[in-house]
Amino acid sequence: MYAIAVHGGAGNWSHTPRQSALLGVERAAEAGRRILEQDGSAVDAVTEAVRIFEDDPLFNAGTGSVLNLDGDAEMDAGIMVGRGLRTGNVAALRRVRNPILVARKVMEMTDHVLLGGNGALRFARAVGFADHDPVTTQRRESWRRRRDDLEAKQGDDRLAALHAMLSTGPRDDDMGTVGAVALDRQGDLAAGTSTGGVTLKLPGRIGDSAFPGAGNYATTHAAVSATGRGELMMRFLTAKVICEDIWNGHPAHTAVERVLREMRKSVGEDVGVIALDSEGDLGIHHLTPAMPHAWGREGSPAIEVRMSA
Ligand code: GLY
Repeated sequence: MYAIAVHGGAGNWSHTPRQSALLGVERAAEAGRRILEQDGSAVDAVTEAVRIFEDDPLFNAGTGSVLNLDGDAEMDAGIMVGRGLRTGNVAALRRVRNPILVARKVMEMTDHVLLGGNGALRFARAVGFADHDPVTTQRRESWRRRRDDLEAKQGDDRLAALHAMLSTGPRDDDMGTVGAVALDRQGDLAAGTSTGGVTLKLPGRIGDSAFPGAGNYATTHAAVSATGRGELMMRFLTAKVICEDIWNGHPAHTAVERVLREMRKSVGEDVGVIALDSEGDLGIHHLTPAMPHAWGREGSPAIEVRMSA
């Protein structure tokens, strides 16, 4: 049997037409499902689903990524295959169209796990990824408004505003990361995650999506993609902990609830996850108001789509 699930990011989703978000997650899930239906691999299915999100400017990944304090899009992405624990990750990567494809090349063409900044960009160019500006007009305007608000403040007020901005939960036009998990007919599991990170982050800030075990992880038992405030996942190692919980005998749908309950107690609530186990059990859970997501599986041709779990 096969199964796939995708998410378009945990957050408020109060300023975005929800119908567009639901169409976006459906399109990504359907592209992955088609690959699995034709006996394709889980890693191909998650790569394609995430690539489709990255090309959709609605989502905070690839084209449509939010901007850092300097007004640049620095993108993170990670991909992982359960069998052999193979993974490739890129962090603070600029000016490429599809960070997930670069992460996959890191996995397939190097023995490195994570490439960052200029090194990641040089690698991307060396393996054939063309220059691409992922900054949309909408993200540029939103960045300018926030930057102007910040610059209107002086001295301690400005420091306090910067501190608040870098340490609070989701803001209302902040959508999250995108991600996908899949199980193929050969029984292989894979996870892929991609993001522009958080709005007005400090240049050089790297989040959980490129950090295996935090925002993205896959084993032979489970695959997990997380979304939300990356620092929470990096402190908790959310994706790895969910995989361990599943390995210890919990089905995916109970593991995600157990782990997010613990996260709420110990680190915070700005988080959402999707998980799939080797039996095809699906876990979808978020502590934010919304997380558009979709899933499909063998035997049920229609993709299921929801704004919140
Ligand atoms: N979860 C995306 C980030 O914090 O970078």
